Amino acid sequence: MSDNHKLPLVALISGGGTNLQAIIDGAVGDLPVEIRAVISNRPDVLGLTRAENAGIPTRVLNHKTFPDRESYDQALIELIDEYQPGLVVLAGFMRILTPGFVRHYAGRMFNIHPSLLPKFRGLHTHQQALDEGETLHGASVHFVTEELDGGPLIVQAQVPVRDGDDAGTLANRVLQREHLIYPLAIRWFAQQRLHLAGNGQVYLDNQPLQQPVLFTPGQEIV
Ligand code: GRF
Repeated sequence: MSDNHKLPLVALISGGGTNLQAIIDGAVGDLPVEIRAVISNRPDVLGLTRAENAGIPTRVLNHKTFPDRESYDQALIELIDEYQPGLVVLAGFMRILTPGFVRHYAGRMFNIHPSLLPKFRGLHTHQQALDEGETLHGASVHFVTEELDGGPLIVQAQVPVRDGDDAGTLANRVLQREHLIYPLAIRWFAQQRLHLAGNGQVYLDNQPLQQPVLFTPGQEIV
């Protein structure tokens, strides 16, 4: 597939960027995206180095240099739109977004969240799952809407919670799955097989998703 047919994408990060790395690795392979920029709200994070190593332009827009959330998000829109992305992916971007920002990218912004939404929105999801005595945990990819971690779900992956797990071991197990389902959802979108209708309904291959696709390792989902 030539670059002309690749989906232009901008990724927003705040940290280590292992999900970003999975997308970069996909793009080096056959994931039909062109990562036009990686933008971080924090300087000196490992995710920026990952992008630089892959030859992807990086930008830092430090939220600490803005007086309020509105002015930051407006500047972020202007920066992102320099790259004219067809899709914005939040890849560990640890910021609450203003409604105006979310509306600007309606239907073309994804987030990945480390829980089986609607369970455990917000932070510390792994500890929450342990505290609740869950035996199944996982990750979700969803379209971003104004409701924090509440947008329409696309795909989920489950992992078992094992005896002796702590938040760290559980986070690692979930991350391995995140690295599979985020590129998968991006692939569907890039192939124009996935879209969000105005009523909030997600469609995959022209079928309304009644529930998120459940990713099962070993089972080929194309
Ligand atoms: C992931 O667990 C993601 O689900 C959450 O933040 C973490 C980011 O990890 N939103 P990384 O920066 O991609 O390694």
